[in-house]
Amino acid sequence: MKFRLLLALVACVLITPHSFAQYVIKGDAAKGQEIVSKVCSACHGPDGNSPLSANPSLAAQHPEYTYKQLNNFQSKNGKPPERSNAIMAGQAAGLSDEDMKNVATYFAAQKRRPLTAHDPELVKRGQLIYRAGLAEKGVPACASCHGPNGSGLPSQFPRVGAQHAEYTASQLKAWRSGERKNDMNRMMQSVAANLTDKDIAAVSEYLAGLR
Ligand code: HEC
Ligand code: HEC
Repeated sequence: MKFRLLLALVACVLITPHSFAQYVIKGDAAKGQEIVSKVCSACHGPDGNSPLSANPSLAAQHPEYTYKQLNNFQSKNGKPPERSNAIMAGQAAGLSDEDMKNVATYFAAQKRRPLTAHDPELVKRGQLIYRAGLAEKGVPACASCHGPNGSGLPSQFPRVGAQHAEYTASQLKAWRSGERKNDMNRMMQSVAANLTDKDIAAVSEYLAGLR
């Protein structure tokens, strides 16, 4: 009995750092900026504040999350990418491991510009979903993982505040349909499974204005 307990403890210590991705990315921000200004800025803005609502803002994102997504857009060993997107597959294909660390470090050091939510009714419902969840549908409070002000929690939970509503809604729908499935332990797929289009519009509108 005691031996088994010890074995379980040792297994936990050995497995935890890998399964919870507690790595820290420290790249060269200046080299990252060079790549961003040449390749990424047209769609994501020179400082990662995206000018277009279909494209995500990347400023102030945790570098571990950005690095993971760039890896997920790449096809590895001839296998299809874990996160499938035609545009980003093309963009990520040419990046080396170091390039990805460098751009992730650059974006992390930029300030996220606030956005404004426009529809007060949607915002009200969105705030309820974000802070309390929808118990009757088994939807957990988003804030429990992404933090009360949407800043996320390094390195597992991305920043989701001051993000374009159009982009956020597209991702929640992609998880609901299973088109996006690169999340660890299917956390976001099960969160999104029971959200209606209206719920998604509401929480996305709320997140745009959250800072
Ligand atoms: C032609 C426009 C375009 C260019 C150029 C582009 N991106 Fe993107 N990027 C997108 C779109 C659109 C998405 C959303 C993809 C989706 O819906 O899954 C995206 C998503 C991302 C994401 C995921 C963000 C998140 O919050 O999950 C990262 C990271 C990213 N891009 C980094 C880059 C980097 C680094 C470059 C330059 C090397 C770049 N992108 C160039 C359009 C672009
Ligand atoms: C149990 C923890 C957990 C809960 C609860 C949760 N999330 Fe997430 N969320 C995650 C994780 C982990 C990721 C990163 C997935 C990945 O690696 O691609 C994520 C990613 C996201 C993203 C993608 C960000 C981007 O830039 O593409 C959005 C948007 C999001 N969550 C919104 C929500 C909303 C809205 C809710 C509440 C309805 C919610 N999340 C509840 C864990 C959670």
